[in-house]
Amino acid sequence: MADTELLLELKGISFGFSEKKPLYRQTGLSLRKGQNLGFWSPNGSGKTTLFKIITGLIQPQEGEIFLKGKPISSESDFRELRSKVGFVLQHSDDQLFFPEVIDDVSFGPLNLGFSEEEALCASMNALERLGISSLAHSLSFELSGGQKKLVTLAAVLSMSPEILLLDEPSNGLDEKSRHLLISQINSQDCAKIIISHEPELLIETCDSFITIQEKKIVPVPAPTIHEHRHAHFFGGTEHTHGS
Ligand SMILES: Nc1ncnc2c1ncn2[C@@H]1O[C@H](COP(=O)(O)OP(=O)(O)OP(=O)(O)O)[C@@H](O)[C@H]1O
Ligand SMILES: [Mg+2]
Repeated sequence: MADTELLLELKGISFGFSEKKPLYRQTGLSLRKGQNLGFWSPNGSGKTTLFKIITGLIQPQEGEIFLKGKPISSESDFRELRSKVGFVLQHSDDQLFFPEVIDDVSFGPLNLGFSEEEALCASMNALERLGISSLAHSLSFELSGGQKKLVTLAAVLSMSPEILLLDEPSNGLDEKSRHLLISQINSQDCAKIIISHEPELLIETCDSFITIQEKKIVPVPAPTIHEHRHAHFFGGTEHTHGS
């Protein structure tokens, strides 16, 4: 991984919503082509904030962001970055604006300059890959939390991003949708940073791992798997996992 192309680099980032409570102090990260970076740290430690810094929704007090070696600072730089970096937000309601699903999913491709026909084709393709093409003409506000999560992922995949930022993508998904999500994440050959509180999801989708310690982003080993007892809805019948 060390010699593949450096896509995204953050250097010397410091940020806090207030001076008394800094989240990041002089820290950074790098993401290379093909890398899948798993990101876990305690609630409130600044993971979502970091994604907002990367995409220019929040300005750090200090530090620099580079995309393929080019410094990103002006709003037009960030607009260009956002056309290459797909960000699936932690809370789906923050990402869905249109009444109909298909309009949200095709908004990105249309914004990138696709024709209506091309945008529709890319959007239907993304919905199909996630097993939710039947929702294309549903009203977003009538969807369940898990369905909304899949729609926001489709809205980002429809733009074929070079980098995917996924903020707790499995939140609210049932087992079947979770498996679909994992197989879709793994079939995307773009680089990814995935925030999750689910160690299994990170193990199944990521090859390197980071956390936040003492206001700095630091590498950590992969989460470990061990046998354990767990509860099942409608359990009691013999079953296997992973299918
Ligand atoms: N707009 C804001 N104004 C002030 N404080 C904020 C704002 N957004 C987030 N915070 C605070 O910044 C801290 C980090 O929030 P953030 O959402 O980045 O955490 P997180 O690591 O993503 O947590 P979680 O695992 O719960 O999603 C929290 O203490 C939060 O209350
Ligand atoms: Mg968060």
